[in-house]
Formats: sequence, C-alpha cells, structure tokens
Amino acid sequence: MESGNKFETNKFEFETVDEVRAGLGEVRYLADEGIAGVVYLADRLGKPVLVEGPAGTGKTQLAKSVAELTGARLIRLQCYEGLDEAKALYEWNYKKQLLRIQAERHESRSWEETEEGIFSESFLLTRPLLEAIRASDPVVLLVDEIDRVEVETEALLLEVLSDYQVSVPELGTVEANQIPLVFLTSNNTRDLSEALKRRCLYLYIDYPDIEREREIVLKKVPEITESLADQVARIVRSVRQLDLKKSPSVSETLDWARTLVLLGVSSIDAEVASETANILLKHRSDIEKALKEFSANGETFEASRVR
Ligand SMILES: Nc1ncnc2c1ncn2[C@@H]1O[C@H](COP(=O)(O)OP(=O)(O)OP(=O)(O)O)[C@@H](O)[C@H]1O
Ligand SMILES: [Mg+2]
Repeated sequence: MESGNKFETNKFEFETVDEVRAGLGEVRYLADEGIAGVVYLADRLGKPVLVEGPAGTGKTQLAKSVAELTGARLIRLQCYEGLDEAKALYEWNYKKQLLRIQAERHESRSWEETEEGIFSESFLLTRPLLEAIRASDPVVLLVDEIDRVEVETEALLLEVLSDYQVSVPELGTVEANQIPLVFLTSNNTRDLSEALKRRCLYLYIDYPDIEREREIVLKKVPEITESLADQVARIVRSVRQLDLKKSPSVSETLDWARTLVLLGVSSIDAEVASETANILLKHRSDIEKALKEFSANGETFEASRVR
C-alpha cells in the first residue's frame, strides 16, 4: 500500500465481510454482500471508496452508518458547484487576525513579528478535509456528491487523498495524523477523473432487490406488517420496470410505506395504489403511466399479495 506506511491508518479491523454486513444491519443499514465486501476491503486496504448509483439508494447513508457502526466521528464535506479550498481545506480567520492587528497597534512590534503571529495555528480555521486528516480520534470522512465540484477542486481533493498532507504557504506542510476511512459519493452528473478513480475502490449501489428492499422497509418502518412490506417492495419493483423519468428511490419506498401505515392500509389494491402514487412518483407523466399500469394490471397486486 503506497500511503500506508507513513501514517497511522485508522482501521476498524473487521474480521470478515459477514461481520460488516451484520454490524451494518444492527445500525439499520441493509447491505448486500457487494456493499459489505467493499467496506471490508476499504478498511483493510486503507483506500477511499467511490460510491455511485441512482438517487436515494443509500450512498450517503452508507458512510453515516459505517460511522455509527464503528463509533467513529463522521466528518462531512458536502460538495456543490463553486466549493473552493477555503471551504474544503482551511481558511484564515480574518476577523481574528484584524482584531489582533488592532490590539497590537500601540505595541512596538515589527510587521514581521505581527505577521508571524497572525499566520499561526490559532488563526487557522480547519475545514472538513484538513479536519479529517488531522484528527486523532477515529474518523469517517464523507465527501458527498463530488461530481458537483469543478475539475480543479476535484484535483485538490485527489491531492489530499493521495498525499495525506496539505501545504499551507504561511505555515508549511501540514501532515496527516491518520488516514481516515473515506467515502466519496457521486450521482454521475459528470465523469470523474481517471486519476481519482484509480485511487479509490469502486462501489455501485443499484436499487435493492425485492428481498433487500422488503428488509429495509421492515427495519425503517417498524409499525408495518411483513405482508404489507412485501407488497410494497414488489409493487415498487414493478413500477421501476416502467419507462419513467424518475424511478422511485428507496427513500420514496419508505415514504410510501409510512403513508400506507398511517392510512391504516393492510393490503394494497389498485385504488389505494392510485391514490398514493404521488408519494412514490414526482413527475406527472410518471404518475399517469403508473396509474394506467395499476388499473390495467390487477395482476401486479395479485402477484404482490402475500402467499
Ligand atoms: N440499504 C439501506 N438500508 C437502510 N436504509 C436505506 C438503505 N438504502 C437507502 N436507505 C434509506 O433511503 C434513504 C435515502 O438514502 P441516501 O440519502 O443515503 O441516498 P443517496 O444514495 O445518498 O441519494 P442521493 O443520490 O439523492 O444523495 C435514507 O433514508 C436511507 O436511510
Ligand atoms: Mg446522498
């Protein structure tokens, strides 16, 4: 491992992939073998994980849940267009610097002395990236929606994640105390650089299969019955097979399940499905397609009704 020898790698030392999977289940994250396997490897190899996949499939939640499972502190860098070094890495505390300069006005200090004073640690505001590599406690770093930043910021991120050090011109090189477990998420709005991909383990989280979605619903909506959860998972799966603008995400499945519970529904029929389709789908044309399917296709409900 190219970067592992110089710094302490913050490892959680899972014994097996199954242990990761079971542990995530305990913090109410239902992972399949693929997801648990990548988390296991990332921890073992000290490599960042690049997580891609459709919206609402649990990419962000995975990092949060791994932090919860390991008891590590979650440090999150939410990416957006225009995110720059000052918000990602560090920035000088200008207000405090000005105050210091004013306070020292009547003292006979040379400018060099003042300058040295105000460009020191105590005037540095650390932002998530620097915070994460300098932490001495266990940390999970979540760089969320990295595809939203410009290529230059991506390059900066890559630099930090490869060298685990940051150069602050006025201070010199700030070295990492640890290599945190890093999750980068992307909704694939643009291609990320090959260099960044090379640095990471890759995880694609697709919509869950019926079985896993049913388990997610059961975990997250405790009031629901097994048979209703099963029906929900099956109907959502069939809706996803329609040619839609935007397929329902896991969060929408959960919202739908909660709604059905609130409405006191014990079994979904075409009427209930039609009345609540707006929880699952957010485009008018998608809702219309689903309604057509619901009314034409009683089998959807027959098939989804529990054995
Ligand atoms: N495997 C899972 N186990 C438990 N809950 C899940 C799982 N997958 C998704 N969820 C739930 O679905 C919701 C959406 O997840 P999350 O916000 O992580 O999605 P995302 O992939 O980051 O979406 P986006 O691309 O929109 O940011 C959360 O409430 C989360 O708890
Ligand atoms: Mg997300």
